Amino acid sequence: MGNRYLIPPLPAPHSSLYMNYKIAVIPGDGIGREVTVQAVEVLKAVGEKFGHSFEMTEVDAGGCAIDKYGEALPQATLEVCKQSDSVLLGAVGGPKWDTLPGNQRPEQALLGLRKGLGLFANLRPAVLHRALKDASPLKPEIIGDGLDIMVVRELTGGIYFGARETKGNEAYDTMRYSEEEVERIARTAFEIAGKRNKKLLSVDKANILDTSRLWRSVVDKLAREYPEVEVDHMYVDNAAMQLVRNPKQFDVIVTGNMFGDILSDEASMITGSIGMLPSASLGTGKIGMYEPVHGSAPDIAGQDKANPLATIVSAAMMLRYSFGLAAEADAVEEAVGKVLDKGCRTGDIMSEGMKLVGTKEMGALVIQAL
Ligand code: IPM
Ligand code: MG
Repeated sequence: MGNRYLIPPLPAPHSSLYMNYKIAVIPGDGIGREVTVQAVEVLKAVGEKFGHSFEMTEVDAGGCAIDKYGEALPQATLEVCKQSDSVLLGAVGGPKWDTLPGNQRPEQALLGLRKGLGLFANLRPAVLHRALKDASPLKPEIIGDGLDIMVVRELTGGIYFGARETKGNEAYDTMRYSEEEVERIARTAFEIAGKRNKKLLSVDKANILDTSRLWRSVVDKLAREYPEVEVDHMYVDNAAMQLVRNPKQFDVIVTGNMFGDILSDEASMITGSIGMLPSASLGTGKIGMYEPVHGSAPDIAGQDKANPLATIVSAAMMLRYSFGLAAEADAVEEAVGKVLDKGCRTGDIMSEGMKLVGTKEMGALVIQAL
């Protein structure tokens, strides 16, 4: 990771006037707990090294909450999160809850947290670490020197939150966007693009969808406020194709909720190391939710095989975005870089000649490198 995750702070940098930070920790399901434990240990080590205290409160959400309380997102969990400075989440879901009706599934916890905390901007960096160059499934000549794409996904609107119904043998979902919703996510993306390579690609399906035509016009209107940023538009089907044909053309991509869900998975996979990728979900305030991009991987849960680095780097994003602790975030990212440079790998990123380590050892190595 090294410096690759040095994403510039958002327009109004969240200030760090105090040194005691309250973090709600949601381990969730599957490998969620194992990877979260390692990130928590890293945060504790950061606290000791830099003189901060992180007050962490563990709360339940997802499948485990369904088992215990009969709902994926208990009100008490949301309350603890609302009263925290930030939320660290492992992963939710698993086959055990797959047969539940849609509105009772563990994934509802994520949607409830995003909406309940007003986290409309989802930042998903797809970065290929220098030590993991061979990990991409794409040919080396397509990858070139590496990849560094930032997907900015709208997170609290669109088809995820529109009216839906199943009636007899029919069902529908609605995609709805207001100008305000598009403008605030587009603004976030312009700000980020302005601090990177000043290239922004807005992805939509404006040849078909009204919401996309609205989206496009709002982005174009906003572009006048950011003359230094070069804006382009692309249809989502083309974007999906271009991502595997020539990913180097992309820098910052801004798109709606569902297109962002799909394209961020694709972008993460072309780095070949989904176990490495963090994400941040932000709103207008200081509070953010930080989680790995990967899921709960029930097949390897509890076996000390999961890669904790995505969660550890998500914690670094928390330090940077919610607490304004840039030096601390750098330190964590550099520690991760060092461990990878030394050749230590969990199974998901293992390659010939490298040293295979488990979840706990990987966490311990990062702390050592700190
Ligand atoms: C993601 C996930 C979630 C989403 C699911 C689990 C609800 O795929 O965070 O990308 O679709 O947003
Ligand atoms: Mg997804």
